[in-house]
Amino acid sequence: MKTLWKNCHIASMAHGKYSIIEDAAIVTSGALIEWIGPQAALAEPEHDNCIDLDGAWVTPGLIDCHTHTVFGGNRSGEFEQRLQGVSYAEIAAAGGGIASTVRATRAASEDELYASAERRLRHLLKDGVTTVEMKSGYGLDLENERKILRVIRRLGNTQPVTVRATCLAAHALPPEYADRADDYINHICNDMLPALAAEGLVDAVDAFCEYLAFSPAQVEQVFITAGQLALPVKLHAEQLSSLGGSSLAARYKALSADHLEFMTEDDAIAMAAAGTVAVLLPGAFYFLRETQLPPMDALRKHGVPIAIATDLNPGTSPGLSLRLMLNMACTLFRMTPEEALAGVTLNAARALGMSATHGSLEVGKVADFVAWNIERPADLAYWLGGDLDKRIVRHGVESSI
Ligand code: NIG
Ligand code: FE
Repeated sequence: MKTLWKNCHIASMAHGKYSIIEDAAIVTSGALIEWIGPQAALAEPEHDNCIDLDGAWVTPGLIDCHTHTVFGGNRSGEFEQRLQGVSYAEIAAAGGGIASTVRATRAASEDELYASAERRLRHLLKDGVTTVEMKSGYGLDLENERKILRVIRRLGNTQPVTVRATCLAAHALPPEYADRADDYINHICNDMLPALAAEGLVDAVDAFCEYLAFSPAQVEQVFITAGQLALPVKLHAEQLSSLGGSSLAARYKALSADHLEFMTEDDAIAMAAAGTVAVLLPGAFYFLRETQLPPMDALRKHGVPIAIATDLNPGTSPGLSLRLMLNMACTLFRMTPEEALAGVTLNAARALGMSATHGSLEVGKVADFVAWNIERPADLAYWLGGDLDKRIVRHGVESSI
């Protein structure tokens, strides 16, 4: 089945950079892009369908490369506490924070988790997301991490979106292992990761490297196990303090290091050399009212690819719009709208190890794109939320979300 999509302009992200084709057309064949370029250069091809995009701006389908979409309960009560002046770290120390979501997630059935995650996912999809990464990390034991990862797989099998599953068992210390962090890390490495990987539930392995979570030495053990299981790694690093997690991630050729407000220039040099993507999460920065900005100049100077994601989670970023994150990346982190758009397409695909097939519109790549009824690509970073008029195409077929 061939479809000609005509009368559009395209921000294609081809050849690894922001690139524009005005007065363009795309030909898709099945799920793939067969031709893309200026409409005038298109010899009238054979096609089964012709769709007039009416002057829309086409971008690659948006990729949300860092979310914690599957969880029980919510933490709006903690949000109120924080507004009264209690800090995120204080709430965590008092048994709230990640631990309270772990209790709610353990208490929820697989069907309940699926239903609540599906409702949240729908917001992302309506906003133009066609690929999303989701992490476990609110189960913290084999049975409950498995439950979350199974929900993630089920979302990928039933919803109109490509889903990548990341195991974040090393997110926090579960109550059963209080004061025994090394024992929990051993349990992750000896039991949890091998079992979950063998069940085909894991595409990548993540950890939270922070003084209120796990040390670089503990994270390294998780990375070594991931390597033995042939799984790529990612890391929550340098969110609240500088522990060198991002350099550690680079040493293990991590797909990405995420958050990074407290990273140093040396970390940026290491990440650039390793090709590790910097995933910036402006929603968490905003929601925690952080003041330490990620080192944008060092990231740019050393050529670290920068991605942007929602970090959708109940504690630090209940963000249901990836486009809103584009705006925050520009206003809070001083990124340009072009950098921000590359951050949710090209570089987000890199952060998931999917560059060969996703993140840009080029011949042979998957035909996931959005035709936005906007005047300029920068409009995507300009509007604060809302449901922009758009047509979403996934695997070469218009999807009706
Ligand atoms: O990405 N940094 C650690 N994990 C999440 C937040 C987890 C939570 O508070 O529930 C994050 O910000
Ligand atoms: Fe996160």
